[in-house]
Amino acid sequence: MSSQSVPLTTLAELPDGDSRGFEVEGWRAKVIIVRKGTRLFGWRDLCPHYAGGTSMAWRRDAYLNGARTHLACHAHGAWFDIETGVCVQGACLGKRLTRVPLRIDEEGGVHLDRTPREDKA
Ligand code: FES
Repeated sequence: MSSQSVPLTTLAELPDGDSRGFEVEGWRAKVIIVRKGTRLFGWRDLCPHYAGGTSMAWRRDAYLNGARTHLACHAHGAWFDIETGVCVQGACLGKRLTRVPLRIDEEGGVHLDRTPREDKA
């Protein structure tokens, strides 16, 4: 299977400790990126509380809780570990978000690495 790389943003546009959501052509849910220092964590914007997933932000790019310690689904208040995607509090305890593969190039460009099969969700 061949892979594709989709440019999403740059490190310069991702403030440390913050989150952003990105539309990806052909995907119904956004990709969430959270930056922690030099590390990035990428997740589908699909809360696992309900089958099929629900968008989690209450407004644009608002994916974190107030203290910015966890990803938060604002529909029913579930919290997720930023690094593992596991729900640690709330309605879907123990379930996890779907990770997306990210790549940072030499110029600081941030890319989604994907395969065609992943385009369906
Ligand atoms: S839809 Fe996310 S906690 Fe209910």
